[in-house]
Parts: sequence; structure tokens; C-alpha cells
Amino acid sequence: MTADQPDQALEQAVDVLLQGGLVAFPTETVYGLGADASNPEAVRAIYAAKGRPSNHPVIVHLARAADLWSWVSVDEQTKAVAQRLIDAFWPGPLTLILKRNEAVPGAVSGGQDTIGVRCPAHPVAQALLTAFAQARGSELAGVAAPSANRFGHVSPTRAQHVRDEFADLVRAGLPVIEGGDSDVGIESTIIDLSRFSLGHGVALLRPGGVSAAALAQVLGEPLRGVDAQAPRVSGSLKAHYSPHTPIRLYSLKKMVQEVPAWLAHNAGNLALGLRQCEVVALESVATNQRISISVLPDDAAGYARELYARLRDLDQGGFAELRWVDVPTEPEWAGVADRLSRAAAAFADDHPAH
Ligand code: TXA
Ligand code: MG
Repeated sequence: MTADQPDQALEQAVDVLLQGGLVAFPTETVYGLGADASNPEAVRAIYAAKGRPSNHPVIVHLARAADLWSWVSVDEQTKAVAQRLIDAFWPGPLTLILKRNEAVPGAVSGGQDTIGVRCPAHPVAQALLTAFAQARGSELAGVAAPSANRFGHVSPTRAQHVRDEFADLVRAGLPVIEGGDSDVGIESTIIDLSRFSLGHGVALLRPGGVSAAALAQVLGEPLRGVDAQAPRVSGSLKAHYSPHTPIRLYSLKKMVQEVPAWLAHNAGNLALGLRQCEVVALESVATNQRISISVLPDDAAGYARELYARLRDLDQGGFAELRWVDVPTEPEWAGVADRLSRAAAAFADDHPAH
């Protein structure tokens, strides 16, 4: 590999974006599948590639130097609170939902009057966004990008995950920009500021890389929950982020109780997921060849960083089922707990697919 290859990859990606094509790129949360946000045809191509319903909005990614205020239409009060959050958390894993400026095509918002905006911290994402904005030469230069996975599936945290997910598109020329492993590992925190001026405060739509506690500290008040009128978030569908192999959640206690029965009834071909500190409780089965144990880090950040890669690896392992120990209920685990419960919801007995 030569030193100028990354630059060439970026240049090529910018050309593809300018021509209305799609580009997969790394961010610190997960990899994104991007298109020119002001080109409705290009944005529609994202929906087609993912198999995503067209009324689900996508996040617009901005370079650090971009002028956010030309994308949105906000009163002074909302602008002030948004600016405080931006000063504290951008670039980083925080998405703000704000009222959309009418000049911005509705395609990125799935027809809603709001827009989700985020300034990612990953240096390769920033290099791409900056180069794209320069080449496009307009105030409205942003890259609309959902996570680079098929609708409802586990998000990618490595370039190889994207190539696995979209092998057909890659064969047809989709550029996948290398950026190493995503550091955060789960998607950004999404907060709704679109109804701030109506007295609705700041609502948490999706927990993620920035904790609710950190946000509350900057805001000086706790975040609100969602109500029926809050903007829709596809990641808040009950089932989402799912591996292909069925995954079920257990308390550690219940798993320890049930393992002897699983072995006795030859449930076989199972993979158990748990944290390092929980391994001792299951040591008796650790050596049993019919049950594989997948050990994750004890801390929430380390666990989040590895979770999706682990689920993808296990999906390749031919297991009949993944049986996963619930994570702690402490606030710093909220993002991981949310993703695990949605992954498992796809296989719950009351899910419409069953
Ligand atoms: O970390 C992330 O946010 C990653 C990386 C690539 O930036 N992106 C991501 O995109 O997770 P996606 O499309 O998989 O999830 C974005 C979520 C969706 O649930 C979508 O419904 C919501 O953001 N969203 C985007 N714009 C919105 C809007 N205007 N109103 C309400 N929800 C919005
Ligand atoms: Mg997604």
C-alpha cells in the first residue's frame, strides 16, 4: 500500500458522490452508506440499497466547518440550546433533530419537516465530508447516510462488514473507504430539539455514544422521554439491529440454571454471550464442546465497541441460537441494552414474524 492511496480513495469517493452515487465510509460509531444529501435521486438510491421504507429519515453528516444553520430553521431559543450541545459534543456521536430548512429536499427526512444532523469525529469521515463540501462548492453540502447495513440488520463496524453486507453493490463498484474498527461501535445518540420552542424540552429518541447523563449535565436538566408526537426513529422499531441467527436474552442466574437442561436435552450448537466477569459462573460448561462461549469486555464502552462484530462473527458460525446474558441496568449501559433488546425482539414469540 502506498501512502497516497487513502487520498485517491477519497478523491474517487467525492467524484462518486458528486455524480449521485453511493459511498460507504467509516465513522466513529458505525460505517455509513452515504449519498449527496441535496440530491433526492441519490438519497432514494440509499433506500433502495438498504431495502429501507422510504418514509424513514436519514441523518445528514456535516464537516466541522459546515454551516449547520443553513440546513435548519430554528428560533433563537432552540439555536442557543443546540449550540451548547454542539460545543460540548461535536464532532462526535450525537445526532440532533431540528426543523428542516425548506431549501433542503424532503427526501432526507422521509417527508417529515425535521432533519437529523451529525458531525462525526472519525478523521476519515471528516476528510471525506470536507473534500465533498469543497468540491460541491455550495452551503448545502452534506452526506446523507444511514448505517451501511440491510434494513433491520446489525450495523457494520468494519469495512469488511460492509463488503459482506453489500457484496453485490461492491462488485458493481460501490467504494468502501477503509477506516479501521469503529471506536464507539453502536450508533449515535439521537435527541429531538424540533419541539423545544413548544416547551417540549429535549427528548431522547435513541441512546448511544453520548450518555443521557452527559447531555443532562450540559443542558442543566434531565432529558425527556418520547411521546406519541415525537419524530419517528426507525431504530426505535421494536425489532432492529438483529443478527440472522436467533438471539435470546437471559439473566445470568437463569442461564446458569438452564444450562444443565440445555446440555441434557442436547440443545447443542448454542453460543452463549456474556461478560468477562460472568465467565466464572459458567465455568462448568466452558469446556463443553457443544456450547461455545463468547466473552465480551466488562465495561460498557468496551462491550459496545465489540458487540456488532461479535454478532456478525457468530452469525457465520452456524449456531442454532445465541443465548445472551442481559447487561447491567446502570445508565452507561443504556445504548447496549437498547440494541440487545431490539436484536432479540425480532425473535420473540410475540413478534409478528412468528
Ligand atoms: O451513528 C449513527 O447515527 C450512524 C452513522 C452512520 O452516523 N447512522 C445511523 O443511521 O445510525 P440510521 O439511518 O441507521 O439511523 C438513523 C436514525 C433512524 O432511526 C432515523 O429514523 C433517525 O435516525 N432519524 C434521522 N433523521 C430523522 C428525523 N428527521 N426525524 C426523526 N428521526 C430521524
Ligand atoms: Mg441503522
